[in-house]
Amino acid sequence: MIRRERLHALLELEEQTFIANHPKSSALFERSKTHLLGGVPMHWMVRWAGAFPIFVDHAQGSRFWDVDGFEYLDFCLGDTGAMTGHAPVASVAAVSSQVARGSTTMLPSLDAILAAELLSARFGLPYWQFAVTATDANRFSIRLARHVTKRPKILVFNWCYHGTVDETFATLEHGKVVPRVGHIGAPVNPDLTTKVIEWNDVDALRAALEPGDVACVLAEPVMTNIGIIHPNPGFHDALRQLTRETGTILILDETHTICTGVGGYTTEHHLEPDILTIGKPIAGGIPAAAYGFSETLAERVNSSIERDLSDTGGIGGTLAGNVLAAAAMRATLEEVLTPEAYGQMIPVASHFTSSVQAVIDEFKLPWVVNQLGCRAEYWFRASLPQNGGEAASSSDADLDRFMHLWALNRGILMTPFHNMALMSPQTTFADVNVHTRVFREAVMALLELD
Ligand SMILES: Cc1ncc(COP(=O)(O)O)c(C=O)c1O
Repeated sequence: MIRRERLHALLELEEQTFIANHPKSSALFERSKTHLLGGVPMHWMVRWAGAFPIFVDHAQGSRFWDVDGFEYLDFCLGDTGAMTGHAPVASVAAVSSQVARGSTTMLPSLDAILAAELLSARFGLPYWQFAVTATDANRFSIRLARHVTKRPKILVFNWCYHGTVDETFATLEHGKVVPRVGHIGAPVNPDLTTKVIEWNDVDALRAALEPGDVACVLAEPVMTNIGIIHPNPGFHDALRQLTRETGTILILDETHTICTGVGGYTTEHHLEPDILTIGKPIAGGIPAAAYGFSETLAERVNSSIERDLSDTGGIGGTLAGNVLAAAAMRATLEEVLTPEAYGQMIPVASHFTSSVQAVIDEFKLPWVVNQLGCRAEYWFRASLPQNGGEAASSSDADLDRFMHLWALNRGILMTPFHNMALMSPQTTFADVNVHTRVFREAVMALLELD
């Protein structure tokens, strides 16, 4: 339906508009190149839509303002790190009061106890540990799973993302495990460390776990990083049953699926992981992550680590669970990520989903949209994918770039590298209507109906 020449011509126009509108971001980017590798603090930022990244002046609630004076509706929200809305009042107050009283001591704090109590109440797992990032929470969980099971391998789902964990950068190619395209510096070929199967494939799961060499399955309860892919009915039951039967530890990563509700998808759907990992929004934007253990696993871990060797195990890190992060976690869990907040966010996401669907229907586009809690995502394919392989095969980098840049030039930031939108407690139905209008205009331009 969309001519590629038209797409490329529109993309070119949008690139020019972006450059013309952002002289101050452009100047800062030029300056960045002197001492930041690639002109960016993290190299993946070279991939933002536009000739350079936007420099933010400040952010509040569902919005941010750039150095060129433009206001943006933020549907990216730091890819979930700011799902609380930017600068949530209670988290800011807790951090402000703690920071002047010291931020890191390598000693425990009352706030760490309170945060663990709040996490237990939410997710049902009795024991918790802290990390600085969700990546680390996953990495440490994998190490502990290997340690207690004495098994070498882990299992992940094709096109998953769990942070920069080496073992997880593996995909399936003609049934074989290969390094994921673009992975940098793989320590070993991931087929030595990792089994990869497609999401929703119970037979493949059974076959992979049956030899008894897999320490843990690491999974998001719903895939979110190659788009939202829900589990088929019965898939989670099979996953739990097969992991139990084979003595495999089940790690559920709730870092993104916390968009489902206060206790994430796990609590909402009564799942029973051995370990649950979470990071990003739990401290209102301050780096903090946590991982919780079932009673049985906690006992196995506790009894398997000698006290005099407990500082050499590669678990933890100097800044993990620092008193500033603990204060931010306590305040965010208690006062920001509340049932009332989800009561605001989820209906707004439903409105986003139905509005995008209405545009898809109006123009009979071969596109689909899906929702998970306060998160929504559309794809350039006619039906919802069942697994990561299917989802990845329908990606369209140029169309993606165009949709992002078109939105950005009209004051909307979407989650980069896929067409994901997240609602904060401050995102309104009116904000969604702005997105719908901009999305519809993009479609009309692509179809040459403008
Ligand atoms: C499901 C999931 N887990 C873990 C992570 C890693 O988070 P971080 O980059 O904060 O370590 C991500 C990041 O996108 C994620 O999507």
